[in-house]
Amino acid sequence: MRVRILGAGIVGLSVADELIRRGHEVTVVDPAPGSGASYAAAGMLSPAGEAWYGEEELTRRCLTSLALWPDFAARLGVPVHTRGTLLVGVDAGDVQQVERQLAVLDLAGVSYERLVRRELLAREPGLGRIAGGAFLAEDHSVDPRAVVVALLERVGDRVGLDESAGRAGVDTNTVTVIATGAQLPAPYSSLIRPVRGDVVRVRTQEPVERTVRAWAHGEQIYVVPRIDSDEVVIGATTEERDGPLLPTVEGVWRMLDSARRVVPALDRASVVEVTSRDRPGTADNLPLVGPTHEPGVVLAAGAYRNGVLLAPLIAQLVADHIETGSVEPAVDPRRFRMKEDG
Ligand code: GLY
Repeated sequence: MRVRILGAGIVGLSVADELIRRGHEVTVVDPAPGSGASYAAAGMLSPAGEAWYGEEELTRRCLTSLALWPDFAARLGVPVHTRGTLLVGVDAGDVQQVERQLAVLDLAGVSYERLVRRELLAREPGLGRIAGGAFLAEDHSVDPRAVVVALLERVGDRVGLDESAGRAGVDTNTVTVIATGAQLPAPYSSLIRPVRGDVVRVRTQEPVERTVRAWAHGEQIYVVPRIDSDEVVIGATTEERDGPLLPTVEGVWRMLDSARRVVPALDRASVVEVTSRDRPGTADNLPLVGPTHEPGVVLAAGAYRNGVLLAPLIAQLVADHIETGSVEPAVDPRRFRMKEDG
C-alpha cells in the first residue's frame, strides 16, 4: 500500500516504522518532527501508575502495549529504564488516594507491593516526608526524545513537507493516516480535547533511582530519572485550558513545590527547560485508532496521557487495519459523532 502519515510524533513515526517493516510505501508529513507532545513527554511506560476508575479498557490496552515495548525498544536501540515506579502519598489524604489507585489495580488484576515509609525510604533514600505508598514493579520509562531520534533515523528521508499536508484523503490510491496529536485537521478536530501539560526538566547530581509518582497534599506529580544521565523530568500539570502554549507561573510553581516535598534534593537541581504541550484527550480517554467515515482516512490519535506507551500498539493496530480491514471496536474512531456530522 501507499500510505501518507500526517504527523511525525512518536505515534506517527511508530506507525511509519511498522508499515515500512511490513513492506509498504510510506511518506510522513510534518513541518517540525517530534516537536509536539512527544517533546514534552516524560516517557513513563506506566499502565499501573496511570490506572484509574472507569478506565479498565484503557488499562488493558496500556498493558498490552507495555508488553510490546521490549522488542520495540530493542529494534530502536533505545534503553528502557526498568527499575519500576514508586507510588507515594505525602499526607494521610494522599495515602488514601494511593489506596484508591491500588484498589483500581486490584480490579485490573495488576500486582503491586504496598510499602510503609521505612520500606519506601530503603528503596529510595532521596524521598522526603512521605506517609506511605507502593512499588509498581512493571511501570518503566524511556527517553521519548531518544525514541523520536531513533524512529526518525529508521524512517529516514520519507519524512518531510508536502503540498497536501493537512488535507486528508486526497488521493484514492493512498491511505492517509492522521497522527497529528492534539490538533486534528477538519472534520476531526472535535474528536480531540487538548489537555495542557507543563513539565520541567532539571539536571541534578542526586537523581532518584526510579520513577516516583506522588500525591502531595492533593497534587499529583511525577519525577522521572533517565538512565546514565543527570536529567530528571518533573511533571505535570493537567489543565483543560486554551491560550498560548506557554507554561504558567502557578502551574510550574505548584508542581515544583510538590516535587521538592517528595524529593527534597530537587532544591539543588538546575532547571534546564520548562515545556508546555497539549495532550490529545478524547471524550472517553481511549484512543482513536482505525477507520473514519471517509474512505482511505485512518486515525492514529487520541492517546491522551499514554502516547509513548501506546505507540507500538497503535502502530500494530493501524498496520493491521490497513492490511486486513480489522477494527477494534473500543478504539474505533467511528464510536463518536463528529460535530460537523450534525
Ligand atoms: N503520562 C503522564 C502525563 O500525561 O502527564
